[in-house]
Amino acid sequence: MTQPSDADRVSSFILDLYGGDPYAHVRDASNEHRETHGPDCGVYPSDPIKMRLISTLIRASGAKRILEIGCGLGYSALWLAEASGPDGHVDTVDRFPEHVALSRQYAAEAGYSDRLQVIEGDGADVLTTLSGPYDLVHDDAWFAKEPPYLDRMIELVRPGGLIALSNWFLLEDAVTGKPQMDWSASAGPDWADHVQAYARKLAAHPQLSLSFVLRPWLALAVKTP
Ligand SMILES: C[S@@+](CC[C@H](N)C(=O)[O-])C[C@H]1O[C@@H](n2cnc3c(N)ncnc32)[C@H](O)[C@@H]1O
Repeated sequence: MTQPSDADRVSSFILDLYGGDPYAHVRDASNEHRETHGPDCGVYPSDPIKMRLISTLIRASGAKRILEIGCGLGYSALWLAEASGPDGHVDTVDRFPEHVALSRQYAAEAGYSDRLQVIEGDGADVLTTLSGPYDLVHDDAWFAKEPPYLDRMIELVRPGGLIALSNWFLLEDAVTGKPQMDWSASAGPDWADHVQAYARKLAAHPQLSLSFVLRPWLALAVKTP
C-alpha cells in the first residue's frame, strides 16, 4: 500500500479540524464516475480545502447569487449552495447530461434542489442566456486555453464581485516544465504556452484585480468598479 504524501497528511489534518468533508461521498462518486464515463468526461472534483476557502469568502462577502461553470457531479456546487445559505441561489453549468442528472440527484439528497439549479449546455452558449449580476463566479471548466466565455463571465459579475478560477495547478506544471501528466492529449501540444498566456491576460485585465493562491491552486479576481 502506498504511503500518503506529506501534503496529503497535512490536508487530512486540516480537514479533521473542519470536522471532515461534508460532501466526501460526492467527491468519491465523482472519481469513480470518471473511471467509467469515458475519455472526455473530465470530472475531477474540486479540493475540499479550496472549497472551504471559497466558502469563507462567500460568507465574508455575503455573496448570494453564484454562478459556476463546470458542475461535474455537483461536488463544488454543494459547497457553494451551503455557504450562500437558504436565501442564496447557485446556477451551475455542465455540458454532459450524465453529469447534470447525477448532480441534480446529489443536490436533492442534500436538500438544495430549490436553490441549486443545474443547467445543461456548453458554458459559452449557456452564459449568453443568463442574466447578471452574480456576486461570485466559480470557473471549474477552464483547462489550459483561454475559455471562449471569458468576456461574458466577467460581464455577468457585479463590480466588486469575485471570480474564483480553479485548475491553476497547471501554472506550476507550465512554468516548471514538469507536468504531473502529459496534458497535450487533452489540451493540445501548446498547453503550457496557453496557460501562461491566460495567466498574463487575467493579471493584466483592466477589469480585474487578481491574486494567485498556491496549493490548493486558485486564482481569485475582484471585478473592479
Ligand atoms: C474539473 S471538472 C469540475 C468538477 C466539479 N466542479 C466538482 O467539484 O466536482 C470539469 C467539468 O466541467 C465540464 N466542462 C468542461 N468544459 C465545459 C464547458 N465548456 N461547458 C460546460 N461544461 C464544461 C466537464 O464536463 C466537467 O464535468
